[in-house]
Amino acid sequence: MYRYVLEGRKELRGEINIQGAKNSALPILAATLVVNGESVIHNCPVLTDVEASVRILRYLGCRIKREGTTIIVDSSNILRDDIPAELMREMRSSVIFLGALLSRTGHARISLPGGCDLGPRPIDLHLKALRKMGVVINEFRGNIDCMVTDGIEGCQVALGFPSVGATENIILSAVMAKGTTIITNAAAEPEIVDLCDFLNSCGAKITTGESGTIIIDGVDSLHGAQHSIIPDRIVAATYMSAVAVSTGRVTLHNIIPSHLSSIIPVFEESGCNVQTNGLDLTITAPRKLRSLRLIRTMPYPGFPTDAQPPLMAMATQADGTTVFVENIFENRYKHVGELIRLGAKISVEGKVAVIEGPTELYGADVYAQDLRGAAALVVAGLAAEGKTTVYGVEYLERGYEEFDVGLSLLGASIRKI
Ligand code: UD1
Repeated sequence: MYRYVLEGRKELRGEINIQGAKNSALPILAATLVVNGESVIHNCPVLTDVEASVRILRYLGCRIKREGTTIIVDSSNILRDDIPAELMREMRSSVIFLGALLSRTGHARISLPGGCDLGPRPIDLHLKALRKMGVVINEFRGNIDCMVTDGIEGCQVALGFPSVGATENIILSAVMAKGTTIITNAAAEPEIVDLCDFLNSCGAKITTGESGTIIIDGVDSLHGAQHSIIPDRIVAATYMSAVAVSTGRVTLHNIIPSHLSSIIPVFEESGCNVQTNGLDLTITAPRKLRSLRLIRTMPYPGFPTDAQPPLMAMATQADGTTVFVENIFENRYKHVGELIRLGAKISVEGKVAVIEGPTELYGADVYAQDLRGAAALVVAGLAAEGKTTVYGVEYLERGYEEFDVGLSLLGASIRKI
């Protein structure tokens, strides 16, 4: 089991390239299954969740080549339509293979997915939509057997909540369906648009509307294409939090400013100076941070739930009261107890967390329990006096590519042991 050992209170300076987005790479790798041929995916981050996707693709019969951050998937010969439980359990996103397998083979046998424990994560919206599209689904003891008897049928799907995963599964199922599928109240995250862009470059006919509507005209087949994954907006937000608590100045390369439209104003509110120039963003931290006031997590373009934990660590260093309202996941405050162990003053009631700042944090041993919570503990460790050891680095490595190396390059004292 790996851990990070940090000595806090070092100023961060310099520049860093932001990796490709995990939440784009995973559905796009699943989408390569629908393509009959070779897909070349550039800017794939090197992460354990990406490795898990590659393992699933290999199991199903795809041939995979890697050249740096490029993954080449040849899906000409699909041999299987099932995914064993041990592969499904590795990550939540394995559920996206459901739609991809159905489109490609007309059959999918999977078990319930694993992933970070952020409270109950049902897939009822996925299954309800698939049933409407003519998929016959049998569920038994955590296994799901899906079959298409007479082709997937395009239809109108109104999502009760703009679920990212359900939207992706519907898109992947509909891309070669008979007729047109219209998803209303669809998720509008940049990663959804990236998936549609990849599929369109393979010959799909998908239109993403402003008002949460996605229209998919089924096509007969998809051909291989090249695609570059968009930058990871959550990793960018995490580095920004790290800079904010370290009174530094850092330029992030390879970001898309519009994807950070709900995040940048929060940093400005706290007194950070944020300048964007093309695909670069420079953040300069003030000597004293101001409170972040009220942050409500919402579906895109609202403030992303994945950025809540690292920004909460930042809020412990800000002058005044910051309030978070977590609207997406029921149990996404597991990092709070560990932040308190470092000296933070945080109270939680239901979906509301109240942070009183600024507090002096002191190094301690802390244990991560999920991906973004782990990032929060690293940000807090950077702000803390003395040595902090963050256990549970395996969570971090599901989403952050060599985070220790990146922070070290910027001047942090951090080692992976
Ligand atoms: C994706 C992201 C994750 C992010 C989340 C919300 C990936 C790989 N992961 O996860 O990083 O935190 O979006 O932005 O892209 N829900 C149901 N029934 C369903 C589906 C979802 O009730 O059938 C609920 C979930 O329990 C949760 C909420 O909807 O409370 C959001 O889930 P969803 O948008 O589906 O998130 P994921 O796709 O799992």
